Amino acid sequence: MNLQNEMTDRVTYIEEVIKKYLPAEEGLQKSVIQAMNYSLLAGGKRLRPMLMQESYRMFGGENIYRDSERGKLVEPFMAAMEMIHTYSLVHDDLPAMDNDEYRRGRKTTHVVYGEAMAILAGDGLLNFAFETACKAFREAKNPEEYARVGRAMEILAGKAGVYGMLGGQVADVEAEEKDTVSSDTLLFIHENKTAAMIESCLMIGAVLAGAEEDEVRLLEKAGSNIGVAFQIQDDILDITSTLEVLGKPIGSDEKNHKQTYVSIHGMEQSKADVKRLSEEAITILASFQRRNEYLEQLVEQLISRKK
Ligand code: IPE
Ligand code: IPE
Ligand code: MG
Ligand code: MG
Ligand code: MG
Repeated sequence: MNLQNEMTDRVTYIEEVIKKYLPAEEGLQKSVIQAMNYSLLAGGKRLRPMLMQESYRMFGGENIYRDSERGKLVEPFMAAMEMIHTYSLVHDDLPAMDNDEYRRGRKTTHVVYGEAMAILAGDGLLNFAFETACKAFREAKNPEEYARVGRAMEILAGKAGVYGMLGGQVADVEAEEKDTVSSDTLLFIHENKTAAMIESCLMIGAVLAGAEEDEVRLLEKAGSNIGVAFQIQDDILDITSTLEVLGKPIGSDEKNHKQTYVSIHGMEQSKADVKRLSEEAITILASFQRRNEYLEQLVEQLISRKK
């Protein structure tokens, strides 16, 4: 398996899925829809929909690529996940939050469309995400699938909200004003602002494919490890990378007086923990009866990601 080729193929497919659900740029609300689509189509790694797709494949056992009947249940959720993630980035970059001017290699939404429209575009993406995810109900073939979509909606809402990503962002903002942040608080921040969404990707894919609850719990744990490792690596890259490679400014954390995994634990420990947490996640993934080789390799590859 050539991981890079497989990944490119998947990203192309995910872009198609996202485009399928984009809101049309028309009406008196056209400006906000343009701002929504601007940020959504700016690119990005599309990691979250990819994780969801792979978890779905792992438990559904069928290839979900294009035109596959079984893919229809998960596609609205893949698009919805990227909409919520994108909204979180648009708001994260606002002057009142991290105040950053580049994202995904482009000027941030508020720089191009103004602050008010960026706030509204974020709100728009969040609501449109749920409208999009609800379309999966129409694809459900029987009461069992209908119930799976309902459970997936619950996970999507929960992990993005005050007990998930949003809660993490709150603690992240409040930590800026503190001189010291405990490693427990930092773990809460990483676990919620970043890992919660990654957990939900793996969980939703599995739920929609019909996985058992105990399997979904194990995936939640794997997602937590992957997500915390992902944020530690993000903190590392904020110091070691460049704007050109990352597509977003480096030094954002220092500028905002943020305590990060690197400032608390040091660079070497941070790198070691990315590796350890990712390997633990792979061990969990490899413990299932159904294996997904691509997914395991993807997590492995994230350890050394450069962007
Ligand atoms: C950025 O996420 C925000 C974090 C949680 C660190 P990504 O690094 O996945 O950003 P995109 O989607 O590829 O732009
Ligand atoms: C934010 O973490 C995670 C989100 C929920 C958006 P960061 O603020 O470190 O993300 P980047 O570095 O701006 O992508
Ligand atoms: Mg932030
Ligand atoms: Mg930021
Ligand atoms: Mg960052």
